[in-house]
Amino acid sequence: MAEQSAPAGPKKVRTRHFQNAKEQGIKITGLTSYDQLTASIFDAAGIDFLLVGDSAGNNVYGYDTTLPITVDELIPLVRAVAGAAHRAFVVADMPFGSYETSADEALHTAFRFMKETGAHAVKLEGGVRSAEQIRRIVSAGIPVMAHIGFTPQSEHGLGGHVIQGRGAQLEQLLADAHAVEDAGAFSVVLEMVPAEAARQVTEQLKIPTISVGAGPHTTGQLLVWTDWAGLTTGRIPKFVKQYANLAGVLTDAVTAFRADVDSGSYPGPEHSYDE
Ligand code: KIV
Repeated sequence: MAEQSAPAGPKKVRTRHFQNAKEQGIKITGLTSYDQLTASIFDAAGIDFLLVGDSAGNNVYGYDTTLPITVDELIPLVRAVAGAAHRAFVVADMPFGSYETSADEALHTAFRFMKETGAHAVKLEGGVRSAEQIRRIVSAGIPVMAHIGFTPQSEHGLGGHVIQGRGAQLEQLLADAHAVEDAGAFSVVLEMVPAEAARQVTEQLKIPTISVGAGPHTTGQLLVWTDWAGLTTGRIPKFVKQYANLAGVLTDAVTAFRADVDSGSYPGPEHSYDE
């Protein structure tokens, strides 16, 4: 295993460190995580925040979209990640159908995540349309990470995985960005947005912007860990850089294990107990 030095920056990441990063031009890194093993590796390596995304719907539960995952399915995953993270800031994603009806419903869901998991913040999708929900959650002392641009929970309404904020849509993107900032969000994720549009949002906002496929001009970069590590098979979005080939590593390992068992070379004497 690679040697690791203590991560630079704060001992424990707080919302003020996100704001400092924005003001001082320091980059923020985030990865999704859904379990304690990856959480503790990413945390020890100095990743600033861990998002227990509703992408767990695809990556843990095997759903086709993020729509079916429930609060009850996410809570144990958030608890595992929050329990393993010592330095990283842990964000719990509010799933589809858990906050849209009213600000009261949104606050109730946020309370559940904060009381039952140890998360430090919640994330929810939508700009202008979610501003009331964000305001109510923030007024209860819970930090909110907003999420605009392509919002996967609306993928059917948006007509699939379509880049947002191009051409005339830039006006709506900017309106959404200002709405979540005015409502009190401490940061905002921009997903699948042209780099130039993300640059304009970043320039206009006081709060940090986090890119998921929104180019290099944002305060931070976030990726879904299974895409980033090459564990996902199938279609990978253009914006993902794969830093490993875990699917290949595991396939080689499982092929070797199968062959060793077939040939009788595993287990050897070194893996067997004496009398
Ligand atoms: O659930 C998730 O992983 C997300 C990111 C893609 C932003 O919401």
